[in-house]
Amino acid sequence: MAESFTFCSLLAFLLLLSVHLADVKSRISISRSSSPEELLGFLNMQEKLSHLHFYFHDLVSGPNPTAVRVAEAAMTNRSPTGFGLVAMVDDLLTEGPEPTSKLVGRAQGIYASADMDQLGLLMVLNFAFMEGKYNGSSLSMLGRNAALSGVREMPIVGGSGLFRFARGYAKAKTHTFDVRSGDAVVEYDVYVFHY
Ligand SMILES: *[C@@H]1O[C@H](CO)[C@@H](O)[C@H](O)[C@H]1NC(C)=O
Repeated sequence: MAESFTFCSLLAFLLLLSVHLADVKSRISISRSSSPEELLGFLNMQEKLSHLHFYFHDLVSGPNPTAVRVAEAAMTNRSPTGFGLVAMVDDLLTEGPEPTSKLVGRAQGIYASADMDQLGLLMVLNFAFMEGKYNGSSLSMLGRNAALSGVREMPIVGGSGLFRFARGYAKAKTHTFDVRSGDAVVEYDVYVFHY
């Protein structure tokens, strides 16, 4: 009895294993047939760590703002943190802190006030690079930005082009903030692993 049970278990296990292996094999062959060169290319590639440094120009005032309020809640004006405010941005990224400095890309996406007690922005941004070897490649950042703190850290959750498979983090530090206009220049240091 015990022996036949063991035998049956073994048989079931072998059957499951072969089904599993067949499944893995078919998935691999499907992927292979879609683009073998691309997959083999990744296998031979070495992961690298890159550091990017740029300045982010958050222009909310003047005739040509690059960050515009697109939504808010009825309570946003009463909230000390502007809770519920949503801004759409296409902010310029430059090499140096001056607005006339060389353009290296744009930060496109959304930031929104997501904390009722302290200023805490939900940042959902794509850094679209437009200069040098990174021209055409992008990084995606998703994180919490306590904008009044000294240095804020936000995760880099992915990328495209030279930044495929990217993951890492961005450190943001306010370079200048004009209290009257609300315009800000923020220094970014981004560290990413990618292929
Ligand atoms: C970046 O790439 C685009 C599209 O290929 C090209 O038109 C543009 O001139 C490039 N920019 C720089 C600064 O190389």
